Amino acid sequence: MYSTKKIAGSLVRQLSPRLTYKATFRTLIDQPTNGFLTGASCFLNGSRGLPAVKPGMEEWVRFPVMGVRKASTLALGDEEQREEKGLTETGSAGGQSDGPDKKAVISYWGVSPAKLIKEDGTEWKWKSFRPWEAYEPDLSIDLKKHHVPRNFMDKFAYWTVKALRFPTDVFFQRRYGCRAMMLETVAAVPGMVGGMLLHCKSLRRFEHSGGWIKALLEEAENERMHLMTFMEVAKPRWYERALVMTVQGVFFNAYFLAYLISPKLSHRIVGYLEEEAIHSYTEFLKELDKGTIENVKAPAIAIDYWRLPADSTLRDVVMVVRADEAHHRDVNHYASDIHVQGHELKESAAPLGYH
Ligand SMILES: [Fe+2]
Ligand SMILES: [Fe+2]
Repeated sequence: MYSTKKIAGSLVRQLSPRLTYKATFRTLIDQPTNGFLTGASCFLNGSRGLPAVKPGMEEWVRFPVMGVRKASTLALGDEEQREEKGLTETGSAGGQSDGPDKKAVISYWGVSPAKLIKEDGTEWKWKSFRPWEAYEPDLSIDLKKHHVPRNFMDKFAYWTVKALRFPTDVFFQRRYGCRAMMLETVAAVPGMVGGMLLHCKSLRRFEHSGGWIKALLEEAENERMHLMTFMEVAKPRWYERALVMTVQGVFFNAYFLAYLISPKLSHRIVGYLEEEAIHSYTEFLKELDKGTIENVKAPAIAIDYWRLPADSTLRDVVMVVRADEAHHRDVNHYASDIHVQGHELKESAAPLGYH
């Protein structure tokens, strides 16, 4: 008798939280709570220290991850909970849409995907970035600005970049789509390396970074989004993938060492690389205008990332990417100038918020 009671009690303890959890999750999905509305309102109004809402963002609806996290944790009860792999719920996994019939995994850890709705009523389909990370680039930025090499370091950086350009021109010729895709795999490295090293420095020295960690990581992410865009219009071949792996292995380590030894030289090199990128994208535009490269429809990811009109073309994409490169040029030459003038980056506020 005692044994039967014990077994029944154990079963109830095991099953109850799971049943409760399912019910709670569905409620949150179907009927958002007041907590959600409050959270969304704070987000949209830019309170709690969050940045002000960018134009066009007012209509975004963000389903709170934290609301679901709290509820699921409460429902779970104690540490006896175990991951239940068989539980699923219909809906997108919160990224590039998997279609309405795709089932998403429910996590006991409260890490539920946020569901976002676009202005046109369709679901936001990108996993890698959210609507509030999309932006309208500054197309009025001066594309012709050039840092005239003044001292030995400048000249070394300038001629290093010019020397790197030569094999690139030989390899790609006028295949600018392919060239852009391949070079973006390299361009996304310096920001990540610099950001990582400044991050570690901030930890070691117990000091702020002046926003430079975030600025450099933003640059890396922006460059990676250029790659995600161009790979929609130019597919890499096997030997190009092999080349990327080799170049990344060499370049990552070389830039890592260079940044440890001389951040001012490293930023100057990137500044000149960005000047070359502007030149390459200008040539890309000329080929598009001549008709030697087909001006196809802009990839969907580009339309959402740069908030472009729905009927945008590849030319519009190249225009905004080129504006991004001009911004990277300015940021990196500025960073180098700060060092050259005998200061540390943290002493000058980083140009945050462009992306
Ligand atoms: Fe880029
Ligand atoms: Fe760039």
